[in-house]
This record gives sequence, structure tokens and C-alpha cells, in this order.
Amino acid sequence: MSLDDFQPAERVRSFGTTVFAEFTALAIKHNAVNLGQGFPDFPAPDFVIEAARTALASGHNQYARSAGHPRLVNAIATVYSPLFHLELDPLSEVVVTTGATEGIFATMQGLVNPGDEVILIEPFYDSYPAAVLMAGGTPVYVPLRPAAGATSAAQWSLDMDELESAITPRTRLLVINTPNNPAGKVFTRAELESVAALVQAHNLVVLSDEVYEWMTYDDAPHIRLATLPGMWERTITLGSAGKTFSVTGWKIGWAIAPRHLAHAVLMAHQWIPFAVTTPLQEAVGAAFEQVEERGYFAELGAMYASKRDKLAGALADVGLTPMIPQGSYFILVDTAHLDAPTPTADPRDVQICRWLTREIGVAAIPPSAFYSLDHKVLAANVARFCFCKTDSVLEAAAQRLRQNFG
Ligand SMILES: Cc1ncc(COP(=O)(O)O)c(C=O)c1O
Repeated sequence: MSLDDFQPAERVRSFGTTVFAEFTALAIKHNAVNLGQGFPDFPAPDFVIEAARTALASGHNQYARSAGHPRLVNAIATVYSPLFHLELDPLSEVVVTTGATEGIFATMQGLVNPGDEVILIEPFYDSYPAAVLMAGGTPVYVPLRPAAGATSAAQWSLDMDELESAITPRTRLLVINTPNNPAGKVFTRAELESVAALVQAHNLVVLSDEVYEWMTYDDAPHIRLATLPGMWERTITLGSAGKTFSVTGWKIGWAIAPRHLAHAVLMAHQWIPFAVTTPLQEAVGAAFEQVEERGYFAELGAMYASKRDKLAGALADVGLTPMIPQGSYFILVDTAHLDAPTPTADPRDVQICRWLTREIGVAAIPPSAFYSLDHKVLAANVARFCFCKTDSVLEAAAQRLRQNFG
């Protein structure tokens, strides 16, 4: 038996390796400044690291409660209750997961029956289709579309008629991501109200992936879908310590939902990891307890706003017109005017991103990875850069861009 002739289970057979594996390797090979994969390259805040040290030293080293370590679920309920305009029950309305990624997986396992359809809005976080498929569901794709010549993520919009026409009697769930990776779009209240009206008219449930909730800019308010009238009982909201406290390697996330939906997620979660690492849950709980007195979320948002402006300025200076993000830590740029010198059969954005990495020395991710096969062409003229990097790395990227395009 070898890799060539062994057949994995059908549910994973169609999966390739992720786009991040290819571009990280390419960036290393060509010594490119890596603005590809979205993880902070700067240390987590001292108070977060200190909380982890204390947690490890104080005996939090055995299995946690399956739905979440008490200190963390209590802290989550305290932080989020005012934001959801209700009194969250930490014991029945919060499930701590192995990153938001497991929250997505457990939601699909807990809610989707074989043959159910799940609507995914493109561009999407790339684990959504895999999670739907592994639950035996069928992904149905509806793209966001940018206005011609868009210079802001706000100019990406969802056609509500197109969304409604994707709904069938088999539709079970809709997944929405705001602020959106990779477009940087923050859905407006009016847009979310339109989505909510369809969801209620067709009796659907929503997975609202809000992991970039604290990273919005230019006063674009982050609206939680669950706070719209009639939506609390239909919405599972996901958050991530990786994004919130710049500790992506801790893999701690949470699902906040009414009891009936949280219970469904928990039924799956209890047989996926059973429970999430105890000391790091203790640490995230302790960190959440300090965010208010430290003004931490405002500080995080301001830091990313400044990084966004730095990178967007550098891109604009060399004619890579950025679609200024209202949220998240990603920027899409228009690459329509560039030519990849050695065309291949791969999608155009993949060729351009390889060329940017190889020849310009700045790695970007091709957004076609966030589209279904039929819609990959919509990403042909864009590249995704991330700005969750130290200022010196952003400056090094700016220099490479200036040298090569200037
Ligand atoms: C939209 C979105 N959802 C979920 C995740 C995963 O979060 P976690 O690292 O907590 O699993 C990411 C990470 O990049 C993301 O961009």
C-alpha cells in the first residue's frame, strides 16, 4: 500500500491540500515577504501570555467540561450579553470549540442531514464547503459581487433575488461571514435585515461567522445578525480567540446560540474533541475578564486600522488598487492590469499570485480558493494580501513593491 494506490474515505477523497500550503512553501522558496496566510506575526499581548502562564502553573491540566471551562463560558457570557442585548446563560448558550473551525464543523455535524442544502456566500472561508460535504450536505453557492472599478469593500454586494432563488425546500442552513474574509466587507444593517427576512420566510437557520468582530474601521459598525428581530432563535454566532487575542495557534473558539441550537452543536462537539484544552480556556477566560478595564478591543481595532492604512497606501502607490476593507485583516487588490509572464492552465489569480511571490517578492493568496469551481472566474483579477503583520514586515513589503513596480 502506498499514497498512490490507497483510497481514503469518499468523504475526503476530493479534498486537495490547502492553498496556504502551496503559497507558504513558495514564499519560503523565493524568500518573499509573506502577506499570504492570515496569522499575526507579532507577539500576543503580555496580559494574555501571563494568563496562560498562570493557568498552566495553577493546576488547570485535566479534561475540561465538554461545553466549555466554567471560567471561560462565564467570561464569554459577561462580555457578550450586552452585545446581544440579552442575558446569556453560560451553561446552555455557549459551546467552546477547537477554534471557530471546529465550531463550523460541529455546526454542520449537529444540524445538517445528508441531502440537506447549505447556502455559502462567496468568497467564503475555505473550511465551509469541506464541513458541509463531510456532513453529507450539499453546498449551494451565492457570490458577493464587486461593483465595476470598486475601491472599497463596501461596494461588494449580495443580490437578494439571487440569494432567494438559491433557497429550495431542502435548504437547511445559510452561512454568513461578517466582517468577511477575504473581501473585508462588513454587512450593513439593511443588508442583514434583507437576509433575516429571507431566513425567516423560508424557516432557515444561520451560522454567522463573526471571528473578525473587533476589527472594523472607519466607523463601520459590526452588526450581530442574532440581534435582529426574530433572529436570536435562528442563529449560531461564532467567535475566535485566535483573532481576538492574536493567538491563532491556541485554537480556541466559541459558539453562542439559543439552547436548542447550542445543544445540537454540543451533541456533535462532545464526539469531536470532547473538550478543548483546559489551561488555554482558563487563560482566555482570564483575558476576557480584563478587556474592559484595558480598553483592549478599541486598542486592537486602532492597531489594525493603522496597519490597514499602511498596506493600502503602499499598494495604491504602486498601482495595485486596493478595495479598502471595512473589516477583517485582509485587502483585495485589482490585478487586471498585470501580466503573468508564463501562463499556465491554472486560474489567472493563481498565476498572478505565484508571480507576485516569485518575481516581486511579496506573497499574496489567490482568492479563487474561496470560490466554488463554477465561480472561480469571479476572482480572476484579484489578489489577497493580509496586514496582520509587524510594521517592519509591512514596510519591507512596501519596499519590494516600490522597487519592482515603482
Ligand atoms: C472567516 C473565518 N472563520 C473562521 C476562521 C477560523 O478560526 P479559528 O482559527 O478560530 O479556527 C477563520 C480563520 O482564518 C476565518 O477567516
